[in-house]
Formats: sequence, structure tokens, C-alpha cells
Amino acid sequence: MAAALFSFRAAALAALLVAVMAACGGCGSCYQIRCVKSNHPACSGVPQTVVITDMNYYPVAKYHFDLSGTAFGSMATYGLNDKLRHAGIIDMQFRRVPCNFPGLTINFVVQHGSNPMYLAVLVEFEDKDGDVVQVDIMQHNSGYWEPMHESWGSIWRIDPNRPLKGPYSLRITNESGKQLVAKNIIPDNYIPNTNYRSYVQY
Ligand SMILES: *[C@@H]1O[C@H](CO)[C@@H](O)[C@H](O)[C@H]1NC(C)=O
Repeated sequence: MAAALFSFRAAALAALLVAVMAACGGCGSCYQIRCVKSNHPACSGVPQTVVITDMNYYPVAKYHFDLSGTAFGSMATYGLNDKLRHAGIIDMQFRRVPCNFPGLTINFVVQHGSNPMYLAVLVEFEDKDGDVVQVDIMQHNSGYWEPMHESWGSIWRIDPNRPLKGPYSLRITNESGKQLVAKNIIPDNYIPNTNYRSYVQY
């Protein structure tokens, strides 16, 4: 059962991967996906919006995108969710759409393994284009912005050759060049795997 679900996901979302890789930094961007009756009788044709959060390499399938159970199930006609889950490989349609996270502001998550010589931050919940094209960091109100580098997905990192000093402000830039600043958003004594929720949003 799990295998059928997996192959469905892998097949459906492998197509999506092509678009994401072409666009990438596409991680963080939003897509509408749907399957229609001509793909499989259980398909509802109702589009669902999903956010590309990350990519994991699997030994069996090349790529795997996480799709929430709710989003997955609601692509099926009511009552036919299980049928769709057992359908195996079917075709999907998808298109990129603006992101909209009602009530959410941009969130920063300090990544596991961060230390004074290496800071990695996941940036999430950006409305509109969903991903950012640049992230800059300012240490302890120095007045000086330093570029961070895109590490993987929506994770940005800095690994200078001298210890970092907080608190840290972060400045993000979207595809239109619009910049937002989250001042002193990450404290000097941050805790990895913790959310630091800003007050800013596109
Ligand atoms: C960037 O942010 C501005 C301000 O919210 C918005 O008007 C614009 O559409 C955004 N650009 C993209 C490509 O989403």
C-alpha cells in the first residue's frame, strides 16, 4: 500500500521536479497540481496547491517530494481517495502559482549543526513568488550586510573564517528586488531547530 502511494508520488512529482530544477531556487515556490478523469477515473480535477519544501534523494526513486496527505487525498473525487492511492503511476498537471500563506509571516529556522563558524537558516512562508533570490546577514548591529549563500532548497548559510557574533539581522530579496529586513531576528544564543518568526511579509 505504501509502495503504491510512493510510486504515485514519485511519478507525479518527478514531472514537477523538471520545472523546479529549471526554475531553481524553486524551493519554497508554490504549485497547483491536479489530475483529471482522463488520467484516472478517481481524479477529481480539483487543483491543490502545494509548496516545494525540499528534495530528498532516495535509493529507489530518484526524487521524492513531500505532499501532505490532505493535498494528496483531495485530488481524488470524494470517497475515491483510496482508489487514487492505489492507482500506481498516473499523469498529473501542474503550474506555478503565487504563494499565499494567510496569517503567516516569514519564518526563519536555524538549522541543526549551526555553530559560531557556520550558520544555516531555512527561510519559509514568503508570499507571492515564494522563494528569495538573496539573503544577507548583519552581525551584532555592525551596519554591514554580508551575503549568505544558498545551500540547499531554501536554506541559506554563511561560513566565515572567523567566529560569528549575534544578534543577527536578516535581509531577504525577492525576484522583483523588493527587500525586507528582519532586525535582530536571531539572538546570539540561538537554539538550532527553532523557529524565529519575523514581523515581515511580502
Ligand atoms: C516582491 O514583493 C513585492 C512587495 O510585496 C511584490 O509586489 C512583488 O510582486 C514581489 N515579487 C514577486 C516576483 O513575487
